[in-house]
Amino acid sequence: MALPNVNPTATPSWKKLGEHFDKTKSIKMKDLFAKDSGRANKFSIKWDDFYVDFSKNRITEETVKYLLELADDVKLKDAIQSQFSGEKINQTEGRAVLHTALRAPESAVFEVDGKNVIPEVYDVKRKIEGFTNEVISGERKGFSGKPFTHVVNIGIGGSDLGPAMVVDSLQYYKNHLTTHFVSNVDGDHVNEVIKKINRETTLFVVVSKTFTTQETISNANTIKSWFLESAEEEDIAKHFVAVSTNLDAVKSFGIDENNVFPMWDWVGGRFSLWSAVGLSISLAVGYNNYDSLLNGAHKMDQHFKNEDFSSNIPVVLGLISIWYNNFFKAESEAIIPYSQYLNQFATYLQQGIMESNGKSVDRNGNPIDYETGTLIWGEPGTNSQHAFFQLIHQGTKLIPADFIGFVKSLHGNQDHQDKLISNFLAQTEALLNGKTREQVVAEGTEEAIIPFKVFSGNKPTNTIFINKLTPESLGKLIAMYEHKIFVQGVIWNIFSYDQFGVELGKQLANKILKEFSGEAKNEHDGSTANLLSYYKQQS
Ligand code: F6P
Repeated sequence: MALPNVNPTATPSWKKLGEHFDKTKSIKMKDLFAKDSGRANKFSIKWDDFYVDFSKNRITEETVKYLLELADDVKLKDAIQSQFSGEKINQTEGRAVLHTALRAPESAVFEVDGKNVIPEVYDVKRKIEGFTNEVISGERKGFSGKPFTHVVNIGIGGSDLGPAMVVDSLQYYKNHLTTHFVSNVDGDHVNEVIKKINRETTLFVVVSKTFTTQETISNANTIKSWFLESAEEEDIAKHFVAVSTNLDAVKSFGIDENNVFPMWDWVGGRFSLWSAVGLSISLAVGYNNYDSLLNGAHKMDQHFKNEDFSSNIPVVLGLISIWYNNFFKAESEAIIPYSQYLNQFATYLQQGIMESNGKSVDRNGNPIDYETGTLIWGEPGTNSQHAFFQLIHQGTKLIPADFIGFVKSLHGNQDHQDKLISNFLAQTEALLNGKTREQVVAEGTEEAIIPFKVFSGNKPTNTIFINKLTPESLGKLIAMYEHKIFVQGVIWNIFSYDQFGVELGKQLANKILKEFSGEAKNEHDGSTANLLSYYKQQS
């Protein structure tokens, strides 16, 4: 069964939402809280170690009712069923979308073309486990007999962002191995990493689903040449491993077949950290922690699949986001984790969300006349408070924001934690209430300055409060956003799992590259032609 194909704007619920929006667009959340003492409880979900408060949104019970009707009108339940049952819902590439199978228990059955993929998934997981243990224990050694001290992950996009974000986020749980990530084709990136490593004690994990990506292959070749400056060809087998679906290309690069960790075409790049793409996570924090990450994601999968939509976290967050994107015409969403560990979280989600839902053609191949993917951005609080929060508080744009916080700190410094969480809570409260003219006057502010100190408030936020940052809770959090992406893609009637938009630039870059070497001559617009000749003259 293909995904349902429903134009959301032609549904009865969309019409109701439009009329409801016209009536309620000026409501003040402050007034809604004043009128209803049960609002915070009504609009929050407690699940496992998650407490999701979505009451600070410009919604009423009627809004939620119509949004839930929209989920039904676009047949979201059927879509979820299609995804989990291995249907080829990535229709434009003819593939199933089964990252959920990668974190399922061994007893689960996920079929692709009538074949259960779980046994293969577990074969690879066991290989990851064995390899991880050998590297961490020092049993597996480099060419000169020394144990490994450094791991370099060479990949880009989904083959970099997920592992890089998780390794950084879980640094509290890290072992003695130092992990580096090389992604950019900018040679300064790879050379800066080379400066920090020793050939004899570094393991290189080349991660590329296709094993054709220019950046990754260039970086892997540069590192291989550097490695061979004082190592032999046969030493490559000890120091280079690959994660890929393209076994032939891996072999011709020179990597031993025993050092290949396979993946499958039913795992999309930006959803692949749960596969062997997460090898560097397992190496960095140990297999058990890596497995807990997967278990956490599996728990969120079960919640998403089975929970009633009204208390289903990814569904509710996805619907609220539609409300702002399509009715308030909010263009962006901020993701603000109150944990320095989640420093790379928004960057990671930019690929997940924007590469998935940045589409303008519906599932019939027709141009869309409504808004789709949101712009995603963010940085951890409290740093972001001293950077861009001014614009969220007093700018002209409506920027819904997710505030993610952890009740307990990992190092247990309660003084810092209390200060962090007081900021976390204060910001959403300030965004909700703002500051009235009367309050500013009462502070004794000089008349001419009063307007500048007034905050309109009424700025929407979700608070995602989690007990503690652990591999498991991080797994849940990532999976929560993955499912939110899916919910929104279904509602917008787009294909979320292809990324053809990335191709054009790649093709043109290859053409231009050939011009540098004199192999080709192309026609360009005036601007590009001038820039190109400037580069040729100056370089
Ligand atoms: O950016 C496009 C993309 O195809 C991503 O979807 C993917 O994560 C990335 O390139 C890397 O691809 P590969 O793993 O095949 O090198």
